[in-house]
Amino acid sequence: MSDLDGKRILLIIGGGIAAYKGLELIRALRKKNASVRCIMTRAAGEFVTPLSVASLSGDKVYSDLFSLTDEAEMGHIELSRDADLLVVAPATANLIAKMAHGEADDLASTALLATDKRVLIAPAMNVRMWLHAATQRNMAQLKEDGILSVGPDEGEMACGEFGPGRMAEPSEIVVAIENALKGATVLPFPGAQVAGGVARLEPPRPLAGRHVLITAGPTHEPIDPVRYIANRSSGKQGYALAAAALAAGARVTLVSGPVGIEPPEGVAVVPVETAIEMQAAAEKALPADIAIFAAAVADWRVAEAGQHKLKKTGEGAPAMQLVENPDILAGISRRKEKRPELVVGFAAETQDVIANAKAKLDRKGCDLIIANDVSAAGGVMGGEDNTVHVVGHGGVETWKTMKKADVAARLIALFAQRLKPRHG
Ligand code: CTP
Repeated sequence: MSDLDGKRILLIIGGGIAAYKGLELIRALRKKNASVRCIMTRAAGEFVTPLSVASLSGDKVYSDLFSLTDEAEMGHIELSRDADLLVVAPATANLIAKMAHGEADDLASTALLATDKRVLIAPAMNVRMWLHAATQRNMAQLKEDGILSVGPDEGEMACGEFGPGRMAEPSEIVVAIENALKGATVLPFPGAQVAGGVARLEPPRPLAGRHVLITAGPTHEPIDPVRYIANRSSGKQGYALAAAALAAGARVTLVSGPVGIEPPEGVAVVPVETAIEMQAAAEKALPADIAIFAAAVADWRVAEAGQHKLKKTGEGAPAMQLVENPDILAGISRRKEKRPELVVGFAAETQDVIANAKAKLDRKGCDLIIANDVSAAGGVMGGEDNTVHVVGHGGVETWKTMKKADVAARLIALFAQRLKPRHG
């Protein structure tokens, strides 16, 4: 049975070229046994016909706030509350602006203002309009109001320009709808904040009640009291994952090697220096539902680090014996007791990225490996962007290049989906 089985979606179709994708969305939702009732704005009628919307949705299309027949059949209040979720696709710049300002001058905007349900929008507009300070301001307002959004995607647009502004694909919107519905509740509900007399809906918190353990940053392996072996890891990806897990409602323990960035507020940070300390702190943090090993652990440490600063003796360089550090990820993956439900490793590779990641998945006994190319040309180490391959036992998915914070948010959403649901 699909997550959408029997769910009622009120789809508001805005007036944009992407309205035709709204038709595909209706089809996809109905295929999953959801019922779809549609409101079209007046401008939407310029792009798709009410007849095609009605025949795909199998229901009457509503468009007029003051139509006696529309209102007699179902008033705007009832229309907006009779659904499990309101979806605006495409959400035009104009509709977004109206929502941000609480305007209600047609059926679509009135239903959006009158609803007590979650609202998910799929913005679609010209790239300049999307990037305009006014639209970004309105989006920030909607986010603060608890409105959920999906997309826009980047790509070539109907107007010939390139950039963000394309409406998310219907398949992506369906996934966003499923996620939104997992957290949907009728107001008032526990967790709804009342600010200035306005009840807000909290964004979904798929990791509420879960504990997420994350290792991040490099380790420093002492040679003597002033020197150490280290690597170029900045800790950014691990810290971004901690922020995303926190935002998803989890309790987060971040076991961090020495880094130069601030941890997100609300995360329990355990600062460590060496691999041995990192291992002890990670083991101590168990049990956890998800363990994510984003640290760049030094593979070796100096067998006997000097108690005092090594001095030049005039007899050449000192001989240094290295011993292998414990593999923290493999150790926790193979635990019989307190093994987290989902164990995720990272693979920083400079060649044969996917083949090496697959081998690492088996060698370490974890559930997923997030692989990335850290060869200098990619600028991943210390940089803001990351291109990852999600390598699991079922196959490989390559994601487009994104900001580390976006990679983190998507990874956390994926990990949350992999956990078995809890009942009660
Ligand atoms: N890892 C770990 N403990 C170690 C080494 C690695 O927990 N002592 C974890 C890392 O946090 C990462 C994953 O293992 O999630 C892969 O790390 P990587 O350094 O790429 O793997 P190695 O085992 O060192 O393999 P290779 O020698 O091929 O680089």
